[in-house]
Amino acid sequence: SYYTKAKFFTSAPDIRHLKDDSGIEVAFAGRSNAGKSSALNTLTRQKNLARTSKTPGRTQLINVFELDDNLRLVDLPGYGFAKVPMATKLKWQKSLGEYLQKRKSLKGLVVLMDIRHPFKDLDQDLIHWAVDAGIPVLALLTKADKLKSGKRKAQLLMAQEAALAFMGDVTVNTFSSLNRHGLPELEQMLDKWLGR
Ligand code: GTP
Ligand code: MG
Repeated sequence: SYYTKAKFFTSAPDIRHLKDDSGIEVAFAGRSNAGKSSALNTLTRQKNLARTSKTPGRTQLINVFELDDNLRLVDLPGYGFAKVPMATKLKWQKSLGEYLQKRKSLKGLVVLMDIRHPFKDLDQDLIHWAVDAGIPVLALLTKADKLKSGKRKAQLLMAQEAALAFMGDVTVNTFSSLNRHGLPELEQMLDKWLGR
């Protein structure tokens, strides 16, 4: 796959520090522990490209991975982690909103949510901001391996129904980093956003 060639490019402490706004980038966002870093490792077939952890809130920095001179994947820090101070949470929400509004190179947002509890308040806020900013969203229901096929399909249908409420370009799919379920569909969407 094209995505195996991803290489670590840079880390930034804050969205304001992401300078080069040329080319095309796609960001991975979601609650702490939703499986963002795992999904990036699965996509790139690299075990340790993005650091994963059992401890929520592991990814504190924005990590940028490069596919080509002008194509990037961005692993954003998770939100919604209970132990983070309120001031930090608000600051992060503000900069995330700015990123979605101002980042010209941002061509798509993958919002990862645990299939067992999708569309929590902060997920909904984020998707609303993306739709307002005209950024297409792929809502990935992660850890799909945790549910049997029947329940998994029911959750997908329910989430697809719920996604209509955003009245924007929001696609819902199921995904598992454990068994690579949903990987072709993820690649297909990224191919489209990255203009491949
Ligand atoms: P932060 O960086 O803290 O925001 O978390 P994250 O969203 O990057 O999550 P991460 O990829 O580190 O995964 C969190 C935990 O969920 C780890 O223990 C992973 O092994 C587990 N996990 C991730 N994806 C899957 C999956 O598809 N299936 C199962 N069963 N576990 C998963
Ligand atoms: Mg992470």
